[in-house]
Amino acid sequence: MPEGDKQQDPRQLVEEARKAFEHEFGRFDRLRLRDYESDKLPASDSIENMSLSDVEALSREFSEFRSQQTGKKSALASVKKIIGRVAPEERAAFGQLVQQTEADFLRLIEEFELRLKHEIAARRIERERIDVTLPGRRPRRGHLHPITLLRQKIEDIFVSLGYAIEDDREIETDFYNFTALNIPENHPARDPLDTFYTTEGFALRSQTSTVQIHAMERRSAPLRMIAPGRVFRRDTPDATHNPMFYQVEGLCVDRNITMAHLKGTLTEMVHRLVGPETRTRFRPSYFPFTEPSAEVDYSCFKCNGAGCRICKQSGWIELGGSGMVHPNVLRAVGIDPEEFSGFAFGFGIDRMSALLYKLDDIRLLFENDVRFLEQFN
Ligand code: DAH
Repeated sequence: MPEGDKQQDPRQLVEEARKAFEHEFGRFDRLRLRDYESDKLPASDSIENMSLSDVEALSREFSEFRSQQTGKKSALASVKKIIGRVAPEERAAFGQLVQQTEADFLRLIEEFELRLKHEIAARRIERERIDVTLPGRRPRRGHLHPITLLRQKIEDIFVSLGYAIEDDREIETDFYNFTALNIPENHPARDPLDTFYTTEGFALRSQTSTVQIHAMERRSAPLRMIAPGRVFRRDTPDATHNPMFYQVEGLCVDRNITMAHLKGTLTEMVHRLVGPETRTRFRPSYFPFTEPSAEVDYSCFKCNGAGCRICKQSGWIELGGSGMVHPNVLRAVGIDPEEFSGFAFGFGIDRMSALLYKLDDIRLLFENDVRFLEQFN
């Protein structure tokens, strides 16, 4: 042994390493966690009473302890380094002592690790346990929105009359929104105060009439179609207005189509939708895309024309606009107005469903309050 180390018995070093190990290991072995310093621990601090996350934390702490005790910088590692310097006659016995000590440490460490592993596994199994005898959770059954219910009724009526249902884009170019519909350059509908413009040249459609143009371009004449869909206008919301609402557009183009067909078709629709005793009324009006144009009313379903609160004492309820397709609209899509004629109409679904379901505020339709919506089951 080198000079200076003489007094230090190497066995002493092993003894010190063992003492240090036992002291540290005791922290874990006594199954304590929260207060290592206190000797008296409540039973609740034993591993058995610890939660999964506490045992996992303890396990992480213990693996740190393991590397401290068995790693390259451990007390035992430095003792191993001096084996070669011990007097030859003592070397074998000393080597054995070190080996035995190391084996003792490892056995204790591994036993404890195994225990932690079991404790963690047991808690995970407990946490994932499924009680198959518990009653299941029933999903809440949804149902259709009142606007959808009305839209489907309208679709059914027109499908039975031989109409196709068209769906089209909500963002439109100037051509489909206005020009092809014979809406002149200076028409107020083009005003950005009325229409939502997006990027240059695009706008949210303000009427489903745009679909007339797409449908005629795609299918030409003859054709019969309706197009339910959302439209957008710069309106301040109130009890009867919303900046987004639903319309249904209708279009019939064929040879020899007259205003009589328009009247007959819309009258048939209100008979089926509102009731067989319902009457219709056509008032002269103006729309750029029809000539002649008419506003359509139907007799009040509540008072049958006598006058009441729903029809504001007039006996009539407004349905929407209609008319004979303007020759310019037919020309815009390459249909010869000498050969073909047609009628068109458009009305709002929201207001109609508000009336039929007796809502006094159409904003209710978009608030998504289930207590309101559930009533339309
Ligand atoms: N697009 C019109 C509006 O939003 C409604 C309308 C009127 C549609 C006459 C038509 C029509 O197809 O012929 O007020």
